[in-house]
Amino acid sequence: MTSPMIRMTGMVKRYGPVAAIDGVDFQLGEGEIHSLLGENGAGKSTLTKMLSGVATPTSGVIELDGRPVTFETPADAMRAGINMVYQENSLVPSMSVAQNLFMGDEKLFNRLRPLYIAAQQFLQSLNFNVDPWASVSTLGVAQRQMVEIARAVRKNARVIVFDEPTASLTPEEKHHFFNLIRRLKQDRVSIIFISHALEEALEISDRITILRDGKLVETGDAKDFDRARIIAGMVGRESGIEGETAPADAKPPGKRVLSVQNLSMGKAVRNTSFSLYSGQVTGIFGLIGSGRTETAKVISGVLKRNMFHGGEVWLEDKPVRYRVPRTAMRDGIVYVTEDRKAEGFFDDMSIAENIGMGFLAAGFNKSQVVRRSDIAEVAKYWTGKFNVAALSNEARVIELSGGNQQKVVIAKSLVQKPRVVFFDEPTRGVDVGAIAEIHRLIRELSRSGITVVVISSYLPEILSISDRILVCRKGRIVEEFAAGTAEEKTIMYAAVH
Ligand SMILES: Nc1ncnc2c1ncn2[C@@H]1O[C@H](COP(=O)(O)OP(=O)(O)OP(=O)(O)O)[C@@H](O)[C@H]1O
Ligand SMILES: [Mg+2]
Repeated sequence: MTSPMIRMTGMVKRYGPVAAIDGVDFQLGEGEIHSLLGENGAGKSTLTKMLSGVATPTSGVIELDGRPVTFETPADAMRAGINMVYQENSLVPSMSVAQNLFMGDEKLFNRLRPLYIAAQQFLQSLNFNVDPWASVSTLGVAQRQMVEIARAVRKNARVIVFDEPTASLTPEEKHHFFNLIRRLKQDRVSIIFISHALEEALEISDRITILRDGKLVETGDAKDFDRARIIAGMVGRESGIEGETAPADAKPPGKRVLSVQNLSMGKAVRNTSFSLYSGQVTGIFGLIGSGRTETAKVISGVLKRNMFHGGEVWLEDKPVRYRVPRTAMRDGIVYVTEDRKAEGFFDDMSIAENIGMGFLAAGFNKSQVVRRSDIAEVAKYWTGKFNVAALSNEARVIELSGGNQQKVVIAKSLVQKPRVVFFDEPTRGVDVGAIAEIHRLIRELSRSGITVVVISSYLPEILSISDRILVCRKGRIVEEFAAGTAEEKTIMYAAVH
């Protein structure tokens, strides 16, 4: 490559005694799409945060157009044309989509109509279906991600870092997003693309860089890579990861544990009926906005009863209606959130304390005192099982990488020893090794007699994990397939038409 636009040399970032990034060189050409890959905790976010002024390097030199630069704040980096779309959301929830989009241009706020019209036109030009008047707090994860992407694009950045931008987009939205990236490339914008979806990285990138444990493994032309080579670089060995996500043999249903009849809630859940059986993984596939999440939340008490408009839920032969998650948990029903930032954990607390909250939430403290040492032991078990990369279990969750946070959210729910678990997008942001681990665990749970539901908008995940597949469209379950009887396109058709 002739002189790169960005050159990072000898980058180090320490947090206490650990180096999250340990002597990494990285270069980015003008108009280049460069994927940054690695396991959870490898240092991808940290490296790019140093470039975008969010994290101050411990040492190292960053050059822009051949001149050394230092960015004290994200605003400094933005002035130099470097923008980052964060893995963890950075929008202001109480403000509208349009206001978030034009943040920094407050003079536009004086005239509302033009502001919203401009926002609408801009979103449409990107093919993003988001209402500019909506308050960000009412948006789902995917739509918030679109607003973040749109905001970065609007700033006419020279460099945009996308930290797992596609994790919650539907296939259709991904298609638009990749077209958008190609368009940016034509305009000579340079892109750093961070993703755990290796196929996407292979498809879109000019070059690929792999990190492991904060160190550079290799950088090369994307055409010289394939999936196996990337995974070998990520985990540092020829791995057996791939074979472990093979499709499950469909299990015959056990006992009917939960049945839902004519359940309705506002416009999100419309007169839906279905049953769940023990010892089986039920996959629920549906596009974003199809009501999958809301259905699971109403059943498990995560949405308030005053939003529960009608219908019945039976837990075995008992009619139930949960107003708060705690009462559902006491009956053994747990919802594992898709939105870990908002609902998943207490980010200032340690890993152990968060996992310990699982204990308390389930009401174990009523009759027995939970000892710190018990919590520490449970935390140790789960962090070991999931290979949560952190200095210690006393580390605060906010200090973990995105994928490792997800593992803590799952562990926290499982210490509650549930009978019925709804996993909502359980592997979003999680690396290939941990996906295999989480899938294995989900199967193990179901074999031990637990009723397991996996909600996902990633069809290959649904196909590989489910014994039975329900399709959700416009607020209700519209089709059911036994595993192995339906092809991808049949399921997609049911979800869309
Ligand atoms: N503010 C912080 N304080 C302490 N440690 C941190 C902090 N931020 C990151 N780390 C640690 O640095 C390491 C690298 O984290 P980073 O977020 O860069 O990983 P990542 O490659 O982006 O992972 P993921 O794919 O899970 O998002 C991790 O071990 C993480 O726990
Ligand atoms: Mg990250």
